Amino acid sequence: MKALIIGGGGFAGGYLIQELSHNGCEVFATCLEGEKIEGDCSVLTLDITRKDDISAILKDVQPDLIFHLAAQSSVAVSWKNPQLTAEINVIGAINVLEAVREYGGKNRLIVIGSGEEYGYIRENACPLRESEPLHPGNIYAATKVCQEMTAEIYARAYKMDIVMVRAFNHSGPKQDSTFVISDFCRQIAEIEKGERPPVMKVGNLSAKRDFTDVRDIVRGYRLLAEKGVSGQIYNIGRGNAVSIQYILDTALSLSNADISVEKDPKRLRASDIPIIEPDISKITADTGWTAEISVEQTITDTLNYWRKRS
Ligand code: GDD
Repeated sequence: MKALIIGGGGFAGGYLIQELSHNGCEVFATCLEGEKIEGDCSVLTLDITRKDDISAILKDVQPDLIFHLAAQSSVAVSWKNPQLTAEINVIGAINVLEAVREYGGKNRLIVIGSGEEYGYIRENACPLRESEPLHPGNIYAATKVCQEMTAEIYARAYKMDIVMVRAFNHSGPKQDSTFVISDFCRQIAEIEKGERPPVMKVGNLSAKRDFTDVRDIVRGYRLLAEKGVSGQIYNIGRGNAVSIQYILDTALSLSNADISVEKDPKRLRASDIPIIEPDISKITADTGWTAEISVEQTITDTLNYWRKRS
């Protein structure tokens, strides 16, 4: 089975390469020029805002399975640069869908969206089922809704084999430190090494998010590729949201350093959804997937990763 990962140079992409190659796939992964990909795969350079380049790769590789992971994935960045976010997440996604349609192979396409798509939810709506109405609360989320709706249109209109995924927060070693677990762990590691004053800078600690280890998430992507029902949308997450305060307390409890905590206004967002938590019964019923790695383990592994970085 030949698998093509579009956006293999990102955080989840690297883990997905490993997951697929360990499970017998021949893996091809695309990344932007200047990005590095490690792992058992053939590397191709691609910018998804250039549709013809996607078409050329599909023609060359002839994949059976395509994962579309390429995205501007930061909510924080989307507030600062909405145009770039839309260009990559909307135009880029349409380019991928169009190129796959024209390719016309018997491939399955897995489109990765986000738990952020639910946005401003009704009171007591958590855990969120896939049928819950979407009210995105930021530009990033709006672009992911647009991607998903477009993918649904392609699946119906052109009878393409597409499975859509709403991935909730995932974390682990190697994640960019703009995301909260990696951010907190990096700060602690740098404080321990004496590289910064012993003061943790934090944003909104009352928000509740559903954190899953990236290694569990990519296993879920593989299972959805194998067993997910065509044309369906699946939540993937732990199904148990915790507060950012809990993430902070857990990370701090793993260090012997004497660290004080300070609110940093720059880390507060223009608006932050209070709680996002999925119902995961659909993915569990169709694929058997549930998260296996604890949040505490993810934080420990991420902290140890930053401790080892020079
Ligand atoms: N990054 C960061 N840094 N976030 C903080 C901090 C801080 O110092 N303090 C509090 N937070 C809060 C944010 O306000 C947000 O409510 C929560 O921590 C999680 O923030 P992120 O880790 O940056 O992730 P996100 O929830 O905005 O988006 C992630 O999850 C989505 C799925 O729910 C990304 O991985 C998206 O790509 C993904 O789709």
